[in-house]
Amino acid sequence: MQSMAFYLLLLLSLTSTTTSATTIGVTYSTPASISGSALLSPDRIAAKVVSMNIPAVRLLDSNPAMIRAFAYTNVSLFLSVPNPLVPLLASNRSLAMRWVYRHVLPFHPRTKISIISVGNDAISYSPDVSPFLLRAMQNIHLSLADLRIYKVSVSTTFSFFNIVPTAFPPSSAQFQNPNGDVIIRPILQFLERTNSSFLINLFPYNMYRSSFSIPIGFALFEEFPFNFRDDLTTGVRYRNLFDMMVDAVISSMAVMGHENLPVIVAETGWPSSGIDASEVDATLLYSEMYLKGLLNHLRSGTGTPLRKEGVSEVYIFELVEKEAKQGIRNWGILHHNMTDKYSFEFSDGGETRRFVEVLLGFSVEVVMVLYLLM
Ligand SMILES: *[C@@H]1O[C@H](CO)[C@@H](O)[C@H](O)[C@H]1NC(C)=O
Ligand SMILES: *[C@@H]1O[C@H](CO)[C@@H](O)[C@H](O)[C@H]1NC(C)=O
Ligand SMILES: *[C@@H]1O[C@H](CO)[C@@H](O)[C@H](O)[C@H]1NC(C)=O
Ligand SMILES: *[C@@H]1O[C@H](CO)[C@@H](O)[C@H](O)[C@H]1NC(C)=O
Repeated sequence: MQSMAFYLLLLLSLTSTTTSATTIGVTYSTPASISGSALLSPDRIAAKVVSMNIPAVRLLDSNPAMIRAFAYTNVSLFLSVPNPLVPLLASNRSLAMRWVYRHVLPFHPRTKISIISVGNDAISYSPDVSPFLLRAMQNIHLSLADLRIYKVSVSTTFSFFNIVPTAFPPSSAQFQNPNGDVIIRPILQFLERTNSSFLINLFPYNMYRSSFSIPIGFALFEEFPFNFRDDLTTGVRYRNLFDMMVDAVISSMAVMGHENLPVIVAETGWPSSGIDASEVDATLLYSEMYLKGLLNHLRSGTGTPLRKEGVSEVYIFELVEKEAKQGIRNWGILHHNMTDKYSFEFSDGGETRRFVEVLLGFSVEVVMVLYLLM
């Protein structure tokens, strides 16, 4: 009977981890070139996303036709306000209202809009619009509230490399000053007050490239005996670079007293080709290993050492390759012509089914063993 209780507990823990798994979406931006525009019409893109069973999309340019195309699909959308608009929306409430009138009001709630990012990596954008971020976020938030739209949260997206100077050990990471105190701290307060999330672009690829001491397997979720890093302050062992970077963000928020804010990884990925010969690790094999490893890790529901439930959402950069040519970084999970680039299934429908089958098989076995023992 003791073992029965043990197996029940095991079963319970296995099932509960699957329910807490992260939502995995993709990013999409309209290509600059107009060739193939018919192929990439908003309706085609939305239909492709639905057919791939992708539950969430981050639109990097929030084209209203694209927002409309996702009506009645159950796909949740993450919208973005472009950086050049940030100072305008900060200084003029009626312009913020206008943005909401154009991008949210006509579509909500038929299109599920979950969050609006005001700006994307505004700190590195030139001219620097980051001093206007908070006011612009407040104006969008107030405009939504004026229209009684409470389910759409407002935030902004930072880039890991521009705000967290050192990621190891994660427990001693801090936001870089002066931006930490001047820009990020008041934004964290706003996010806490409005139940929003902290959005971060996070690329282990860039950190791997900038540090000779990181083994490739640690960046690619490979489980080798020596692929780990111990954080001696917390006594925590890291088995992949992604978790380490996420925990560096969580520690940095904790320093400012906001360790419980939900974290959304607004962009991540690994390029399958590089700009030049120096990018030897930008290969199709490695990008496939990164994506597969990331999906398996997120679906395992184990979270990170400092955040048991894990990040709430992750967006893979990006759905469709921008151009079919050499000498650029290609990140798409689909080719330029919308055909599959990788052999693995992006959708987790199949995985879940297989997992349930394994679980069922497992419990049948437990019952048989118990029966034999009695
Ligand atoms: C959307 O979700 C609702 C509730 O979960 C479901 O009833 C409906 O069939 C879904 N619609 C589509 C198009 O998947
Ligand atoms: C704010 O924007 C509105 C709408 O575009 C415009 O009419 C108004 O002049 C602007 N106000 C200021 C102070 O720029
Ligand atoms: C934030 O969420 C909490 C708990 O879900 C809820 O009680 C509170 O009303 C929410 N606040 C806002 C401003 O939405
Ligand atoms: C789509 O593009 C890829 C990569 O450029 C190419 O290998 C493939 O043959 C193309 N497929 C079709 C059907 O055009």
